[in-house]
Amino acid sequence: MVTNIFPNPFRPGAGHMPPYLAGRDKEIQDFEDLLVQEVIVNNLILTGLRGVGKTVLLDTFRPLAIDSKWLWAGTDLSESVSISEEKVVIRLLTDLSALTSSFVISSKEQIPFGFNTSSHIINHYLDYDTLTHLYESIPGLVSDKLKALLELVWHCIRDEGFSGIVFAYDEAQTMSDHAEKEQYPLSLLLDVFQSVQRKDIPFMLVLTGLPTLFPKLVEARTFTERMFRVMFLDRLEESDIKEAILCPIQKAECPVRFTDNAISEIIKSSGGYPYFIQFICKESFDMYLQQIKVSGETHIDYRKAIEDITRKLDNDFFAGRWAKVTDRQRELLQVIANLSNSDEEFSVQEVVAAAKSLPKPFSSSHVNQMLSTLTNAGLVYKNRHGRYSFAVPLLGQYIRRQQKEIIKRKGQLDLFPKQ
Ligand SMILES: Nc1ncnc2c1ncn2[C@@H]1O[C@H](COP(=O)(O)OP(=O)(O)OP(=O)(O)O)[C@@H](O)[C@H]1O
Ligand SMILES: [Mg+2]
Repeated sequence: MVTNIFPNPFRPGAGHMPPYLAGRDKEIQDFEDLLVQEVIVNNLILTGLRGVGKTVLLDTFRPLAIDSKWLWAGTDLSESVSISEEKVVIRLLTDLSALTSSFVISSKEQIPFGFNTSSHIINHYLDYDTLTHLYESIPGLVSDKLKALLELVWHCIRDEGFSGIVFAYDEAQTMSDHAEKEQYPLSLLLDVFQSVQRKDIPFMLVLTGLPTLFPKLVEARTFTERMFRVMFLDRLEESDIKEAILCPIQKAECPVRFTDNAISEIIKSSGGYPYFIQFICKESFDMYLQQIKVSGETHIDYRKAIEDITRKLDNDFFAGRWAKVTDRQRELLQVIANLSNSDEEFSVQEVVAAAKSLPKPFSSSHVNQMLSTLTNAGLVYKNRHGRYSFAVPLLGQYIRRQQKEIIKRKGQLDLFPKQ
């Protein structure tokens, strides 16, 4: 009954806008600063671990850009865009045409044959067909054609009073070059934007993705170091976590209140990571209402509650990822999870040293190779100083919980040995 009056406001989920976007004022201000560039010297990379809030922040930027008279193009980049240069062209033309298809680039009066028939105007729009036709008619390589086309598009719309166009692509870490197939879609994208920006055309790139994104761009084109401002989204600070928890329920009709004790448990268990905050708060909210319904009890033993929620989180968020890892990779990840610095960053040497006492230790080339496989699987990433971190927040804690669970179960088996 009460649930209908005040629906659960928390939103754990990929790209789901939270009821209250906490702690991102600085990033929003930085983005607004980028919008006042007349000549684009800074593009933006929005990066961070899984679930830290990249997509929802990108969605928050959109109306800000539109308010400042920017046009906004873009979407999620699927793996398929990365396959070939042609796919990048199709992507850009599709996104552009969505913005420009109502622009008339020429009009022709058509005078029909016969008497008493009035002439009528035929408009030519800058739609997908026109863009494709123009693109095809430009001579040169793919990059020459794209550059010239983008220039032409700006020429057609510049007098309409727009500040420019933001090209925003989420999950951009999926882009890569494929030297073996002589396909360089990532380099193409970077070359084209760098070139049009040098001609003072205000087309800005905003790329969002996991921490592998920036090193990947720099590897493709070293000039990207100067071309992008990198915004690394981190876990929320304590005061912001409190706002993320409390603002959504600070309404008179909300039946749920978090005690100080519950708030500190949420701060501790979520590690300040936005997805975990939403998940824990949503579960707590439901749990509380359910308890009132069943027993009328309005007080929750929150320490016990958080244990149940953590178990659910392990199943919903971590277990799928853990299931995809081989036994040998698990051994390596367990070694890493038990390093004192596993929640920050670690080196190959530290992993090799810690694994020395195992029945089957790891050589450094083996660790290097396995970390590279785990990077492709999105579980770890290498930073610019050659050190590694977990790419999934709080993965180390999950692994340690699993280990404890195994030890506990083993202990129970030893207590009741098979006859
Ligand atoms: N600043 C914030 N305050 C409160 N909740 C937030 C905040 N940012 C994100 N969230 C919540 O965190 C969750 C994850 O957000 P989002 O999908 O944007 O993360 P992401 O970084 O894009 O994740 P992924 O790497 O998986 O694409 C969502 O449930 C969202 O509502
Ligand atoms: Mg996302």
